[in-house]
Order: sequence, then C-alpha cells, then structure tokens
Amino acid sequence: MENEKEHSSAKLFIYSSIFWLVIFTTFGFIVAVKFFAPEFLGDTSFLTFGRVRPMHVNGVTFGFLSTGLIGISYYIIPRLCGNKLYSETLGKITAVLWNLAIASGTVLLALGYTQAREYAEYIWVIDVAILLTLLLIGYNIFQTIARRTERKLYTSVWYIMGTFLTFPLVYFVGNVMWHPETGSLQGAVDAVFNWFYGHNVLGLWFTTLGIAAWYYFIPIIIRRPLYSHLLSIIGFFSIVFVYTGVGGHHLLQAPIPEWLKTVAVVNSGLMMIPVLAFITNVGLTMRGSWNSIVEKVPLRFMFIGAFFYFLVSAQGTFQALRETNMFLHFGQWPVGHAHLALLGCFGFLVMGAIYYLIPRITGKEIYSQRLMNYHFWFTILGFILFFASMTNMGLIQSSAWSRNIGVAILLLQLKPFFIVRALGGRHNHRRAVHLSLQYPFDSLEGRTSGTKGITASRYADYGREEGGRIQGECPGLCHRWNRIVSINGVHRCSPSLSPDGLCPFRPGTSIY
Ligand code: HEM
Ligand code: HEM
Repeated sequence: MENEKEHSSAKLFIYSSIFWLVIFTTFGFIVAVKFFAPEFLGDTSFLTFGRVRPMHVNGVTFGFLSTGLIGISYYIIPRLCGNKLYSETLGKITAVLWNLAIASGTVLLALGYTQAREYAEYIWVIDVAILLTLLLIGYNIFQTIARRTERKLYTSVWYIMGTFLTFPLVYFVGNVMWHPETGSLQGAVDAVFNWFYGHNVLGLWFTTLGIAAWYYFIPIIIRRPLYSHLLSIIGFFSIVFVYTGVGGHHLLQAPIPEWLKTVAVVNSGLMMIPVLAFITNVGLTMRGSWNSIVEKVPLRFMFIGAFFYFLVSAQGTFQALRETNMFLHFGQWPVGHAHLALLGCFGFLVMGAIYYLIPRITGKEIYSQRLMNYHFWFTILGFILFFASMTNMGLIQSSAWSRNIGVAILLLQLKPFFIVRALGGRHNHRRAVHLSLQYPFDSLEGRTSGTKGITASRYADYGREEGGRIQGECPGLCHRWNRIVSINGVHRCSPSLSPDGLCPFRPGTSIY
C-alpha cells in the first residue's frame, strides 16, 4: 500500500478541489437563475449578478480546476521521476497559501474589490499570493525532477515543466502586476494585455497541465504504452510556439490593430496541429482497449474530456474566423464554448483523475462504484442540456441581432433556454455534490462497499495486480446480488449469475 504521508500535498490539493467545486458551481447556478429571474436573491450587494459572476468564473477556474490540476501534478511528478516529492512540507504550505488566496480573493470580489478584467479579477494582493505560490510549487516540482532516479523524462514531465516555467510570467504580465493600484493599463492596450493573459491561462496552464495528466493516466489505466512520444513532443512545441499569439481572437470585434487580429486568426488555425497530434496519439494508444471506457468510470470521465478537448478546439478554429466570429461573438455561443472547454474537457478530466487518485492517496476504496457511475451519467446529461441550451440561444440571438431585432423582444423567447441552462447546470452542480459525498463517507468511515474484499492497494499499481483471486459483491446496478471474481487482477461479474439481456453491462465487465 502506498504511504499516505507520501502524497499528503497531492491529497490536500485534491480535497480542496472537491470543496471548491461544490462552492463555486453553486455560484454558477445562482448566476444562471438570475438570467431568467433577475430579482432572485434580491439586491443584496454581494449577491448581485456583477459580483457573483466573477466569483463563479475565478472560483471554478482557480479554485476547482487549477487546484485539482496542481494536486494531480504533485502526484504524477514523483511517480514519473522514481522518487518522492522534494518537500511534502513545502507542498502543504503551498496548498494552504493557495486556498487562502482563493478564499480571500472570493470574499474581496463579494465585497466589490475587483480589477474588472475577465479571468484577472482578483486584486493585486491576491495576485501576489498566487504568483508566490506558483513559484513555490514550481520550485518543489523542479527540485523533485532534479533529484530523479528515472533518467528518461516522460512527456508529462515536459508539459508540467513547461507550464511552471511559463505560467508565472504570463500571470505577472497579464495581471499588469507592476501597476498595483489598478492592475491594468489603459484603453485598447489593456484589452490586448488582458487577452494575452486570458488566452494563455487557457493554453499554457489548463491545456498543458491537462495534457500532462491525460498522457499519464490513459496509458497507465489501459496498461499500454503511449503510442508516440514524438507526436507528444510535436504537440508540446507547437503549443509553445502557436498559443502565445492567439489572444487577439477574443478581440476580433474590438478596435485593436488589424495585423494583430490576422496573426491571431492564422495561429488559431495552426492550433489544430497540437490538438490533432494529441487526439491521434490518444486514439492510437487506445487501439484495442476501447472497452475499457465502458468498464472503467475514471477512464470514461477522462476520455470524454479528451474528446471534448478535440471538439472545443475544432469549434474554436471555426469561430475564430472573422466572419463567423462577427456573427457568433455577441451572444451565448462563446459562453457555451467556454463551458465545453473548462467544464467539458478539463472538468471531466479532473473529476476522472480524482476518482482514480482517491483510492491511491487514501489507501481506501471509493465509497460507491454505483454512485460514481450515476455521477458520470448525471454529468453527461446535465452537460448536454447545459451546452445545447447555450449554443441554441447563441444562434437565436445572433440571427435576430443580425436582422436588427432588439434584445427586449428576444428575451421572452430565450427564457425557456435560460431555464434549461440552469436545470442542466443544476445536474452538473449535483454531480459536484456526488463527488464531495464520495470522499467523506469513504475516508471517515473507511467503508469498503461495492468492492468488498478488494483493498485499494490492489489498484495502486497495475503491475502489482498479477495473480490475485478475489471474491466480493458486484457493484453493478442489476448485478448487485452477484459475486465478482477477480482473476489475474481483472474483476469480473460471475457470468453464470448475471441476468443477460437486462443489464447495460456485459457479464464479465471489469468494475474499475
Ligand atoms: C484550436 C483551439 C481553439 C480556438 C481556435 C479557440 C478559439 C476561441 C475564440 C475565437 C474565442 C472567442 C469567442 C468570442 O468571444 O467571440 C474563444 C473563447 C474561449 N475559449 Fe477557445 N478556442 C480554442 C480552444 C480552447 C480551449 C482548449 C480552451 C480551454 C482551455 C478554450 C477556452 C475558451 C474560453 C474559456 C473562452 C471564453 C473567453 C471569454 O470569456 O470570452 N478554448 N475561443
Ligand atoms: C466546473 C464547472 C464550471 C466551469 C469550469 C465554468 C466556467 C465558466 C466560465 C469560464 C465562465 C465565463 C464564460 C464566458 O465569459 O464566456 C462561466 C460563466 C458562467 N457560468 Fe460557469 N462554469 C462551470 C459550471 C457552471 C454551472 C454548474 C453553472 C450553473 C448553471 C454555470 C453557469 C454559468 C453562468 C450563468 C455564467 C455567466 C454567463 C454569462 O455571463 O453570459 N457554470 N462559467
């Protein structure tokens, strides 16, 4: 069994990520309700739209996603380097600092202290805390890499190193940290800085940490090597060279220099190079193992996330063209795109990774396989409703406005879509609650339901699973009265007892 202390920093970040997911998606739900019931929660200043929206946006991006991705990096770097994290104490200090920054940033936003620049709303003092924490995390990670016993640098290590080399700089420049009073420049120049940052927080933070995680988890779960290291490195360098010039595609309808827009549009097309390199690599790695997506819920979350990454990038290239952007920019379409990106690809990835990691960092099993499976289907259903309503709304708004039909007339027709968005979002919010329920039950009670008789260490490392033969209760919906048998590390429902034809899972389905 893995030593609990060994992953204590990763664990702290992972728990925090789950906590923030519940808090900040609740704010998203409040904002969504306000779209069709503006009087909801009255006019209490800290619950008004203008304050709750940035609390939601910064909260889900920094609180939930970034915290989860840092936890994942703290877990995978030592494993890929063949040693322990350089300092778990420093790791825990960074977790405390990071969480304090998120909590106080949110309170300050609620009180009206903001830099009023999207994704960069936290004020200067919070920026300092975040930047300092990023530097300390980077230090811890680079020290671990410097002391590695594994000579070869696996591709995920490249991506994580690249992230911690570039992102602190992006954060400093993008938040205009040399102007503490405002955290901004003036006029259109500030918009260029804001979107240099706004885009690179996506490209050089979420994307690079996310790809590192996919490249680590997918091969290890399906127990096959990555198809091509060359493709992954092509992806790495094309991200580094192409992403940095793309911020202008958020400003195609703004008065910034035309050449900057052209650079952004061309680079937006070129961004498909790393995306295609990634999805080809993942697809070819998965050859012959596609059934694992059905059988292993954490992998299912992660793979759907990877597929959404491809989808959102194809959508992005399309909407980065000048003509399409002019049509789509002023409605809910980009908000749909933003959720497909951050909730769809990276949200699914982080959630799958949390499910994969919890048994490994706590030494206990997941509370309920069934709940985890429900969680997945709730998430997908909620997300489809959520995304479809925003995309449809965007198309209706854009069509109407291009024909000079005013906002007021449209609002009534859009109301059902706003309601569906809130309901779909509520499904997503409910999944946050599901995820948060999994852990407390699991850790406080140390329960082993669903996979009785199988200890987490059985899953800790696939290499160690050889030769086991385990009996237990099947976690499947209709197989639940049956027994599972595990031979050579593959856990199967006993075929003779499974009610064939009724169950969505084949007899013999691997449970994890
Ligand atoms: C080839 C890849 C991509 C391209 C070309 C692209 C293009 C675009 C464009 C043109 C916009 C501006 C839409 C508008 O306001 O009119 C946009 C917005 C956005 N994109 Fe992408 N995108 C890509 C991939 C991604 C990925 C991978 C992420 C997540 C990491 C992402 C996250 C976002 C977000 C959050 C916004 C909303 C920004 C805002 O608040 O206005 N995109 N994208
Ligand atoms: C982890 C999950 C989530 C992530 C990563 C996320 C991310 C984001 C981002 C990046 C934006 C800014 C979009 C833009 O300006 O283009 C945003 C806005 C918003 N989000 Fe979320 N979100 C999540 C969950 C939710 C949920 C569950 C709801 C609830 C229904 C929700 C409702 C909203 C609303 C209403 C807005 C404002 C849209 C607007 O101003 O037009 N989000 N979210």
